[in-house]
Amino acid sequence: MINQLLNRKPFEAAMEEKEGGLKRTLGALDLTVLGIGAIIGAGIFVIAGRGAQAAGPGIMLSFVLVGIACLCAALCYAELASMIPAAGSAYAYTYATLGEFPAWLIGWFLVLEYSVASAAVASGWSGYFNKILHMLGAALPDSLTHSPLDTTTPGMMNLPAICIVLAVTVLLVLGVRESARVNALFVALKIAVLVVFIVVALPYVKPGNWDPFLPFGWPGVVKGGAMIFFAYIGFDAVATTAEECKNPQRDLPIGILGSLGVCTVFYIIVAAVMTGMVPFAQLDDPAPLAKALSLIGKDQFAALISVGAIFGLSSVIMVLMMGMPRIWFAMARDGLLPPVLGAIHPKFRTPWIATIINGVFVAAVTGLLRLNEIAEMTNIGTLSAFIVVAIGVWILRVRSPEMKRGFTAPLLPVTALITIVSCSWMMWALDALTWKYFAVWTVLGIIVYFVYGVHNSVLRPGAPAKQQA
Ligand code: ALA
Repeated sequence: MINQLLNRKPFEAAMEEKEGGLKRTLGALDLTVLGIGAIIGAGIFVIAGRGAQAAGPGIMLSFVLVGIACLCAALCYAELASMIPAAGSAYAYTYATLGEFPAWLIGWFLVLEYSVASAAVASGWSGYFNKILHMLGAALPDSLTHSPLDTTTPGMMNLPAICIVLAVTVLLVLGVRESARVNALFVALKIAVLVVFIVVALPYVKPGNWDPFLPFGWPGVVKGGAMIFFAYIGFDAVATTAEECKNPQRDLPIGILGSLGVCTVFYIIVAAVMTGMVPFAQLDDPAPLAKALSLIGKDQFAALISVGAIFGLSSVIMVLMMGMPRIWFAMARDGLLPPVLGAIHPKFRTPWIATIINGVFVAAVTGLLRLNEIAEMTNIGTLSAFIVVAIGVWILRVRSPEMKRGFTAPLLPVTALITIVSCSWMMWALDALTWKYFAVWTVLGIIVYFVYGVHNSVLRPGAPAKQQA
């Protein structure tokens, strides 16, 4: 039993292409755009204003610090993705480096990252959607825009959030290429509104608003960083499409690092402009960028930002919801989840059943919960995956230095160490309640593994050789 828990999946098997598998359609540019699609969303359009309340104008330093931590994690991801280009991303890397049980746990934690994050972002999407309906004089009643568990205004369900999730699910079943095209359009729109924001607001920046720069000192910068970590989540989703890339060894590192680089630059500039144009205390709003523009009398641009946010958040939901079924697909192929989750649609060649199940799960969560309450759960799941990926890349450098790498992370083990220390620290800084939920989620995952996975793994002792091949 112990042996099975630490059984490592051979690299050849992890990399093996299956007949009739996923369709290889994505190139380097598609992957970079997919990454940007997953990254720029609720973090900057919704959460940044709250982050500024913790860090003051120093929120721009929070973006720099978390950007550096994520860059180190991205370098580790890029190396592993270029060595093991398999659909499961962090799950597949862990299976090949640390063994079956740690891999199962990481797969289980990634549900928190992808499914729960899509639910959180869909809830932010609904907020902006209602804002626009309100501007048009056609706002929906509160009962249809608030979840029953909403502590301030309980409603029946968050209908717009449920609808966007179900619409994205249908698109994802139809095909990754089609979804990537829609995503590219949305990415162009959200980048355009961020550029408009910067250009319109820049002349209104008063350096006096940056003084004092660190009203809450370095602890404030760090606290703000833990809050806006959510803004960076998503670059790793690029790696989940490994089996749909034309040239994964070369293109995955470009997609991961390229998308993260572009977003980091935008975040730092937007944070600097936002805190320079109005006193930071006025940014305490669920739509901080639109609010800042309204405060300088640019209401028409505030409306434009809201429309851009709708597209921005849609693409995040789309790419994150594309990632989850691909991880389930990989886990089902390894026997750790029921085979039905590994089913590929005969015509669209997408993991359609996993996509639909994930869609229904995300719709249920987003209909019931609120963004702020679930964003931290996403952070804890993602941070744990980053730490394991950093450990994995380090282990492989020591154990298999001769293996071919399409990309080599510079300065290892320093890169891995920075990732491990900074992510552990950010996990530590999260709320006690988040840790409690995380503990419950972990125990649930362990139970599912011992009830199902351990008996059905294709690497279990005595499994038919054909299954293992
Ligand atoms: N990084 C993504 C966002 O900010 C999850 O919405």
